[in-house]
Amino acid sequence: MMAWTDRHCRYLLRLASPNAFLFTEMIAASAVLHAKPDRLLSYHPAEHPLALQLGGSDPEQLAAAARLATQHGFDEINLNVGCPSPRVKKARFGACLMLEPELVARAVEAMRQATHLPVSVKCRLGVDDADTDELLHAFAARLIDAGCDALYLHARKALLNGLTPAQNRDIPPLQPQRVYALKAAFPTLPVIFNGGIRDAQSAGEHLQHTDGIMVGRAAYQSPQFVAELDALLFGTMPVAEIEVARQYLRYMREELEGGARLHDMTRHMLGLFKGGRGARRYRQLLSDAQRTRKNDITLVHDALAVVLPQAA
Ligand SMILES: Cc1cc2nc3c(=O)[nH]c(=O)nc-3n(C[C@H](O)[C@H](O)[C@H](O)COP(=O)(O)O)c2cc1C
Repeated sequence: MMAWTDRHCRYLLRLASPNAFLFTEMIAASAVLHAKPDRLLSYHPAEHPLALQLGGSDPEQLAAAARLATQHGFDEINLNVGCPSPRVKKARFGACLMLEPELVARAVEAMRQATHLPVSVKCRLGVDDADTDELLHAFAARLIDAGCDALYLHARKALLNGLTPAQNRDIPPLQPQRVYALKAAFPTLPVIFNGGIRDAQSAGEHLQHTDGIMVGRAAYQSPQFVAELDALLFGTMPVAEIEVARQYLRYMREELEGGARLHDMTRHMLGLFKGGRGARRYRQLLSDAQRTRKNDITLVHDALAVVLPQAA
């Protein structure tokens, strides 16, 4: 998720969930091609399985980025056709591409030929007035023809004029039945449900009709929820939050030595221990700008001591 997640966040979520399939935020294919090697495509081996999500609409560029991602060892390449941001629309990628199914299909074909990895697409139910099931199913059929291996479907449409990206994640209503209907119409296409999953019950409900679930905001806001979902779906024991925190602390120490900034890592820990005793003070301590600026890792010990006195 752009501006929220990064490799540190994914490492933390991996600690909470040994089995989740993690995604990068959307990265423009042009940026991948022009960045210094490794700047945008580096990750910790523990992050596997990991998909690189690309933004773009130029098939050749997307294919070249997919090739690079393959060399970097990603496990899947995903094309974003769901982001409603005006900036993204201006660059002719994201959700506005749902209005150009032929172009998306050519992009998928080009990526398909460039890599042996699964190539998937993330999209919405539709865009503006173009949000009928007929259009959505035609879009899916064209993607399947092009070699798309899976569809991640955010179960609401996007309104490209008048709503901010944040509003576009809440205001258009969720329409789970339309995702289920798509799956029923294309039984061989893996369909992954996305949108509004905040508890195990809704996760279980969507899983009865689709092949998987994708969780965005709730995962970022509560690593513990990710641990619970992992346990529910894979029969594991949920990893305790304190265990996640301890191992993340070890990771942060190593990363600091490698030149990472403390704040870039502590910001992802704010959702740990949510609702528990001392959670507010824990967040306050971790947000101490002066100490994070100094890369003072004892601040993390102090924060953990508040939520769990014996933890620090
Ligand atoms: C800050 C933010 C950034 C996002 N960036 C991306 C992105 O880069 N790629 C993407 O596919 N979705 C992105 N999303 C959308 C989420 O992946 C997801 O589709 C949406 O929030 C609905 O799912 P949720 O209710 O589980 O959060 C972003 C969401 C937020 C809140």
